[in-house]
Amino acid sequence: MKISLTGIKPTGNIHIGNYFGAIKPALALTEKFFGVYFVADLHALNSNPSPKELQQLIYEVAASWIAFGLDTEKAIFFRQSDIREIPELTTILSAVTPKGLMNRAHAYKAVLDKNAENGRDPDDGVNMGLYTYPILMAADILLYNSDVVPVGSDQKQHVEIARDIADNLNRIYGKTFKLPEGLIAEDVQSIPGTDGRKMSKSYNNTLPIFTSEKDLRKQVMRIVTDSTPPEEPKNPDGDNLFQIFKFFGSPERVEEVRQLYIHGGLAYGKLKEELYEKMLIAFGPARQRYFELMDNKSEIDVILATGAERARELGRPVLAKVRKSVGLDL
Ligand code: TRP
Repeated sequence: MKISLTGIKPTGNIHIGNYFGAIKPALALTEKFFGVYFVADLHALNSNPSPKELQQLIYEVAASWIAFGLDTEKAIFFRQSDIREIPELTTILSAVTPKGLMNRAHAYKAVLDKNAENGRDPDDGVNMGLYTYPILMAADILLYNSDVVPVGSDQKQHVEIARDIADNLNRIYGKTFKLPEGLIAEDVQSIPGTDGRKMSKSYNNTLPIFTSEKDLRKQVMRIVTDSTPPEEPKNPDGDNLFQIFKFFGSPERVEEVRQLYIHGGLAYGKLKEELYEKMLIAFGPARQRYFELMDNKSEIDVILATGAERARELGRPVLAKVRKSVGLDL
């Protein structure tokens, strides 16, 4: 079975945009691939979070993925920093990777551009972790002989760089790595935020999944609509409440509501109430599991530790082959 590898940045407060846009499609891959999933905590270190904050984010993201049904027996789920082979492979890859490859990385270039715009030193705020981010990511991908790497378009270049790094080492030392393929999510279903813009934590327009019922209800009620009175016809396709509702209603109910929009008779407040209730039903089991896990973090620790064991088993022979290729071992 081919290996699909997904690195997950530790973020908290998972919302329905994360779920439908990234998590659900990533979890569906376990049907076709052997799934390798990990929390990219070493990458998260680059932004120097406080230790407490980092710990909390790791638990929140791990609990979220498990609660959504990541099958931790079938797939492997672990923490990047538990894999001692990763820093070693990163160092070996650094030795052969041209510096110019890092200079071309979008994420680094974006910081340079911003600094130039503001008349600051070009490398202001750039740490080495940010600069060499693509090498660490290449180590993540190459250590397990990954076949495909499903990523959003923002990470496409990083996967291409990983391929270049692998190809470069292969040319210097002979074929060592399999070249990974990026699997770019085509047309991920996108879900608007409560204000109609893209749902994003930075816009403060999300519908969080693992929050109290009271807060969830409050956020649903905040969904912005126009002021057309209930009896007047409205355009369902121009309304973000309807766009969000489509993810939760049955096809029949969605069609019924669409007709109410078109012919008049729809009250936004009532539809919000229905949406809230449908969200609670849809995410009920996941919410229950999430709160259970967050109340019993040692269960998460055990799952991640077991996953790390299995991941290291998968990675060890690959690292052994690399050490041999480059002459560290005979
Ligand atoms: N850089 C990815 C992100 O920002 C996370 C990540 C780390 C990753 N290592 C990876 C993704 C390896 C895919 C493969 O989302």
